[in-house]
Amino acid sequence: MKKLKIGLIGAGNIARTHLKAYAKLENAEVVAVCDINPANLKKTCDKFGIPEEHRYNSVEAMLAAEPELEAADVCVWNINHAPCAIAALRAGLHVLCEKPMAYNTKEAEEMMAEAEKAGKLLMVGFVLRFSPENTMVKEFIDSGVLGEIYYSKATYLRRHGNPGGWFANKALSGGGPVIDLGVHVIDQTRYLMGSPKPVSVYAMTSDKISGRKLKADIEWRASATGENVCDVEDFGVALIRYDNGATTLLETSYELNGPNNTSKALFGTKGGVTIDSKSTRVYTDISGYIADVEPSLPSGDFDVIFANEMAHFVDCVQNGTPCRATAEDGIVVMKILDAIYESARTGHEVILK
Ligand SMILES: NC(=O)c1ccc[n+]([C@@H]2O[C@H](COP(=O)([O-])OP(=O)(O)OC[C@H]3O[C@@H](n4cnc5c(N)ncnc54)[C@H](O)[C@@H]3O)[C@@H](O)[C@H]2O)c1
Repeated sequence: MKKLKIGLIGAGNIARTHLKAYAKLENAEVVAVCDINPANLKKTCDKFGIPEEHRYNSVEAMLAAEPELEAADVCVWNINHAPCAIAALRAGLHVLCEKPMAYNTKEAEEMMAEAEKAGKLLMVGFVLRFSPENTMVKEFIDSGVLGEIYYSKATYLRRHGNPGGWFANKALSGGGPVIDLGVHVIDQTRYLMGSPKPVSVYAMTSDKISGRKLKADIEWRASATGENVCDVEDFGVALIRYDNGATTLLETSYELNGPNNTSKALFGTKGGVTIDSKSTRVYTDISGYIADVEPSLPSGDFDVIFANEMAHFVDCVQNGTPCRATAEDGIVVMKILDAIYESARTGHEVILK
């Protein structure tokens, strides 16, 4: 079987998850890796057996020295998504780019223009689209189980989970939980609602407890960036309205005096659905009786979901399968994220064109 030759850009935490996923695929291999941080480059390449001669300290060096590369996978800080993706597209590679698509809408649009010019695939790493429960719920929705969906809740709340490092540094990340965590659940709920066009956003963010120190471990910490800045929001709430009249309520936090909660809920004229870390439930009625159903589903842990995402990317490149997480979707979500920050800053509703 022909293996797609992939160059990995960025060798930090999520790059290791991607490498693990590619290792499960028979039709793809990561043949080269670059990172501007020599310690991360060494740690990741040693762990996954990438030979010394295929390790590079910049994207430019890797692209120049590895002409047989066919695709690139961008796993760098948000501020560097656009320059790295554009460099790879200009070198004639297909690109998978981690979420959020870019630092802002303008850069996301530049990336898509470059992909169109190059005639290459630009896929966005909206990994929740590839979870088994998401696939199942999408099938329910497509077959009419929920009827017309008019409201959804997109929730990603961490009680004590600011990863620090570049995530907490707005110049590198673009913001806090809204752009880092909210992006996942905004995209997933919009996808399940049939990808409507957003028309307005009204939001509030808060940074009252951003850098608090508690006598408790946080879930995980970002790789050190040499900076010790914390200037991102710790909480965000937003009401997103779509052109079909449907509305989504987003709640997201790095720090909150409330419980951890990663859940999505969609409410339609015939049924509703909730998806959380423990279960997926459908709320409907059967012959006039209220009926709550918990379908059984094979478990899809973190590694399975990423393997599904990478398999889809490779399948799109090799077989021309229509992409399930396009640059167009990435741009729409970036517009929502930008509008959340603008609305929070101005205190006014932002109308999207
Ligand atoms: N899909 C998910 O669930 C998920 C989870 C975590 C992170 N992410 C995304 O993945 C990306 C990376 O996050 P992370 O947690 O791996 O961070 P990280 O700090 O662990 O790794 C990022 C790496 O990128 C390197 N880097 C930065 N700019 C570079 C450049 N121009 N060229 C080469 N290397 C460069 C850094 O040195 C670092 O090693 C972010 O965009 C983040 O939003 C996605």
